[in-house]
Amino acid sequence: MSLHEQLLEASAYIKNASSHKAIRGVVVLGSGLGEFADTLPNADVIEYAKIPHFQTSTVQGHAGRLVIGEIAPGFPVACMQGRFHYYEGHGMNQVVFPLRVLRQLGAEFLLVTNAAGGIQPDLTPGTLMLIEDHLNLIGNNPLIGPNHEFLGSRFTDMTEAYSKTLREVALSVAAEHGMALKSGVYAGLSGPMYETPAEIRMLRTLGADAVGMSTVPEVIAANHMGIKVLGISCITNQAAGLSPHKLSHQEVMETAEHAKQRFVTLIQGTLLRLAAQPVLSSQVSS
Ligand code: HPA
Repeated sequence: MSLHEQLLEASAYIKNASSHKAIRGVVVLGSGLGEFADTLPNADVIEYAKIPHFQTSTVQGHAGRLVIGEIAPGFPVACMQGRFHYYEGHGMNQVVFPLRVLRQLGAEFLLVTNAAGGIQPDLTPGTLMLIEDHLNLIGNNPLIGPNHEFLGSRFTDMTEAYSKTLREVALSVAAEHGMALKSGVYAGLSGPMYETPAEIRMLRTLGADAVGMSTVPEVIAANHMGIKVLGISCITNQAAGLSPHKLSHQEVMETAEHAKQRFVTLIQGTLLRLAAQPVLSSQVSS
């Protein structure tokens, strides 16, 4: 079956299972950050396992379901509680499949979140970081192979992979709530092991402020499809060699839990602003 046919089957299933017809955007919730979806009014919950051609998420802290609800009247968003990672053994096409399906259902923006290790000394555990740009160090990407013209063109511009307009919205929402929001460059590696201290020194030299194992594939696929991106990292730990102790998923989950309230406030405020302002219309650039 072609990718196009798979996307049609999956989007038809979601359309049928949800009362919200055209969605406006996608929110991907990273490790320990899934709770935002539980705050969405009028939500329909769809298990990934039931959606044709979706994989199942295997990581602890990722629920594996799609929650579609209205952040504001007439502004439905689809939240992914859990995502597919390359390190789980999924192919790149499988990692970005949900986003491509949600594009078929109308998504114009992607708000992508993750847990990340802080490399830049200011990025201490619990800090929220707006992703300004990324380094793709995964060693693969979802656009390799025949180009799917119905999704986008062969050579995707990545000059503003993370929309400046959306970043400004998030910064102003953070300021409004008196909340600190740093900015930085996210290095995406395949994982699943954390980095060595030597790798962290290398990443710092390369210009990375934070490091993680997700996000980059989705952001590449979003740019290919002309979807505007806003990326937010929750810094859950100091990167390897900067921290006095060893790294663990336990620490990542605990810090994400701690930052959860601020995180939900920032996401909610940003989505409400997007619902109220015409920043997503095709007339407005970036
Ligand atoms: N490295 C990579 N991925 C991560 C980290 C880290 O230190 N923390 C959370 N995700």
